[in-house]
Amino acid sequence: MKNLNRPRRLRRCQLSVPGSSEKMMRKAAGLDVDYVFLDLEDAVAPNKKKEARGMVVEALNTLDFGRTTRCVRINDTGTPYCHGDIIEVVTGARENLDVIMLPKPLAPADLLFVDKLLSQLEADLGLTKKIGLECLIEEVEAMIAVNEIAAATPRLEALIFGVGDYSASQGIPFAEIEGKGEYPADIWHYQRHRLIMACRANGLDAVDGPFPDFSDSDQYRTECRRAQILGAVGKWAIHPNQVAIAQETFSPSRDEVDRARAIKALYDEAMANGLGAVTYEGKMIDVAVVRLLENTLEKADLIEKGM
Ligand code: COA
Ligand code: MG
Repeated sequence: MKNLNRPRRLRRCQLSVPGSSEKMMRKAAGLDVDYVFLDLEDAVAPNKKKEARGMVVEALNTLDFGRTTRCVRINDTGTPYCHGDIIEVVTGARENLDVIMLPKPLAPADLLFVDKLLSQLEADLGLTKKIGLECLIEEVEAMIAVNEIAAATPRLEALIFGVGDYSASQGIPFAEIEGKGEYPADIWHYQRHRLIMACRANGLDAVDGPFPDFSDSDQYRTECRRAQILGAVGKWAIHPNQVAIAQETFSPSRDEVDRARAIKALYDEAMANGLGAVTYEGKMIDVAVVRLLENTLEKADLIEKGM
């Protein structure tokens, strides 16, 4: 069932920022980016993990992120860090935190653990707003269970295809991740399709994961475009120079928006006059076409509101 009540947020680009780097967190706060996640997982060495919690709280409480959504990626439920990450970050940052990102779930139970713990903390701390949840699909077990995971809790807002860990989990060679492999088709077509369908069926945002070669902007743009065509709303960035490319690729152009608005207005007028289909620039416009254009209009609306 579609989760229609979840908060809407722009996720054209989600920038990964190591939670153990004060410098990079400061840099991230100054960027024009839809979304940042301060990472306690893979970007932080095991001997820095507990210390990084305090650094992330300090960054959330002292830096001005402007319009940017503030998320923290915690460690997964199979580690000794997961519960402590959530308790320490939520207790410390309170309303300065918007979303928690959970890596490596295997089944809906992993999301429910995080959901219940967040509900307890929200009640205990008297928080005035609900913290969102999103999770990575990066294990083959999770990809197989993606429909059930997508429906696990109304707190869930988005799923991300975690390309790196997923490749390890499925046994795909590293060269393929960088778009330089020899597989005679898009290696990610099936997984993206499957994840995006689960997201759309449940009213969630689908986001494409990282692309490690941050000096190859052409291939990064290609990966953004492939995910966008299939229905994803955005892609991760691991370096500031990927941010503008993702935000541009996942935005409808001025022309597309103007055209969608003109067609919608024409169609609405025809409806009021009792007509079911109209002609626009020699092409038939009916309710199905208008439904397609509404995806564009919804995106344009979010971008204009700067959410
Ligand atoms: N977030 C915020 N700032 C970042 C950044 C990031 N992810 N990556 C780089 N920067 C900053 C650098 O600190 C530097 O800032 P400065 O101009 O003030 O000195 C500037 O952007 C340019 O960076 P550059 O020198 O080109 O790269 P680097 O060698 O400092 O860092 C990486 C390269 C790969 C180590 C770094 O981009 C990084 O840690 N990325 C995130 C890794 C991650 O989160 N992985 C887990 C998820 S897949
Ligand atoms: Mg991962």
